Amino acid sequence: MGAANVRVGASLNLGILWNARWICVDILQLPTHYPSLITHYPFDTLESVSKEYTTFIMIHAVYPGSFDPLHNGHVDIIHRASRIYDRLTVAVANNPLKETGFFSLEERLSIVHEVVKGMPNVGSDTFEGLLADYLRQVGAQVIVKGLRAISDFEYELQMAHLNRQLNPNVETTFIMTATRWSYLSSTRVKEIARFGADVSRLVPKASLAQLNRVFPQKRSEGVQEAPS
Ligand code: PNS
Repeated sequence: MGAANVRVGASLNLGILWNARWICVDILQLPTHYPSLITHYPFDTLESVSKEYTTFIMIHAVYPGSFDPLHNGHVDIIHRASRIYDRLTVAVANNPLKETGFFSLEERLSIVHEVVKGMPNVGSDTFEGLLADYLRQVGAQVIVKGLRAISDFEYELQMAHLNRQLNPNVETTFIMTATRWSYLSSTRVKEIARFGADVSRLVPKASLAQLNRVFPQKRSEGVQEAPS
């Protein structure tokens, strides 16, 4: 969390640590409602302690994807992003333009929900339409994407530029997929599971349960997890 002075007018949610408690205000409200906020929260007390308020800008990041289904590479990105950003929403895309998702939106969401439920600053959601609009809707400032290889880069670069055009307040950030998961994709996971091999080392338990439900349990030796 970065410390900064109050930045009036920025399109950010602002968290102020006062009296060992977080006070969250929508900073967009500050220019017009500043006096009422002062009455509402005892800023004057705070001011007597320190002329310059120490504030924390709360960064809300969104990690979007099809997650069809969520695999360990995704889970790794979720863990790492949750350590960087104050709040992370894993947003499952309902993408009508994409060829049918294998798992339904509800199934994909329930897997994500199961995986993130023990992580205090991570939530799950679905979105439809433009990602840039979704970020505006939930007041998030950052998009998180995982990058596996240079082959991902060209597509992601295009998306990052487009998203910035669509919502200039948003930054796309990339987290390099851990080496051990860099070969992994949801498509390959489904393919391996379809032919009956064990994918338990590649996906979280919640995804495995869905895969086992859909594909008959005729397990051959399966996939060993790659060395780190
Ligand atoms: O896991 P995926 O399939 O690579 O995720 C792709 C996703 C859902 C992140 C991407 O298709 C997306 O952002 N879709 C929403 C529509 C959108 O905003 N497109 C970009 C601007 S043209």
